[in-house]
Amino acid sequence: MSGAPRPLVVLGAGGSAREVVQLLRACPDAAGEPVAVTGLLDDDPARAGTSVDGVPVLGPTAAAAEHAGRGALLLACVGSPRDPGSRARLTARLGLPDDAWATVVHPLAAVSPDSTVGAGSVLHAGVVLTVAVTVGRHVYAMPHVVLTHDDEVADAATFGAGVRLAGGVSVGAAAYLGSGALVREHRRIGAGALVGMGSVVVRDVPPGQTWAGNPARPLTPSPAALVEASL
Ligand SMILES: CC(C)(COP(=O)(O)OP(=O)(O)OC[C@H]1O[C@@H](n2cnc3c(N)ncnc32)[C@H](O)[C@@H]1OP(=O)(O)O)[C@@H](O)C(=O)NCCC(=O)NCCS
Repeated sequence: MSGAPRPLVVLGAGGSAREVVQLLRACPDAAGEPVAVTGLLDDDPARAGTSVDGVPVLGPTAAAAEHAGRGALLLACVGSPRDPGSRARLTARLGLPDDAWATVVHPLAAVSPDSTVGAGSVLHAGVVLTVAVTVGRHVYAMPHVVLTHDDEVADAATFGAGVRLAGGVSVGAAAYLGSGALVREHRRIGAGALVGMGSVVVRDVPPGQTWAGNPARPLTPSPAALVEASL
């Protein structure tokens, strides 16, 4: 561990960003280097010049490259079930190299030595990667997510708190698994798919679809919603 903390700028100012600010107050980045969150970048003009949990909002996300050029690490912390692809779009738009991004693993996460975690990813407290788990770039895992043997997670996937994957599961890019979802071994969650909270996934979920329930099935609009939509 070296001396002065490296500045880190978080992209986003919502719930995920606030969680990460707290996480970073408790730990160094994954390389063991101390970091200090110096600001947030957010595209809501109403937030410019305000502060969130004591951290100033410095401007829009378009300023990210400028901050990186001045030596700050970046961390993309946008994304919600309403827009699971937002983090993937943001990081693709910025097109910055991997070494521009911090990778943050809480000291109370357990990552096996043969598992890998890509640049820009965040593992909160209690996350467990048991053996030979591959986690891509800009993945966000909330507390107590358990990924087991040989799971493969593509870039910008999101795991709500307490998600558990059995062995050999693959999760596509920018997929979103809601809190507490369970996935049976060797199943595939397609890119951009959304799995509802508490769901039990026993079949492959095709790309871009929303599935929920036990067993999880495609969510279709209720008859009432169809009538409402046709009015
Ligand atoms: C799946 C999800 C995206 C659906 O949201 P939505 O499109 O707004 O759908 P609605 O709430 O209108 O529900 C539509 C139907 O699906 C059902 N449903 C919604 N979520 C469900 C779930 N997780 N499991 C089972 N059924 C669910 C609703 O009961 C409703 O059924 P009905 O038509 O028979 O009344 C949402 O409920 C969800 O689980 N989001 C993830 C939340 C989360 O985990 N956040 C963690 C990070 S903070």
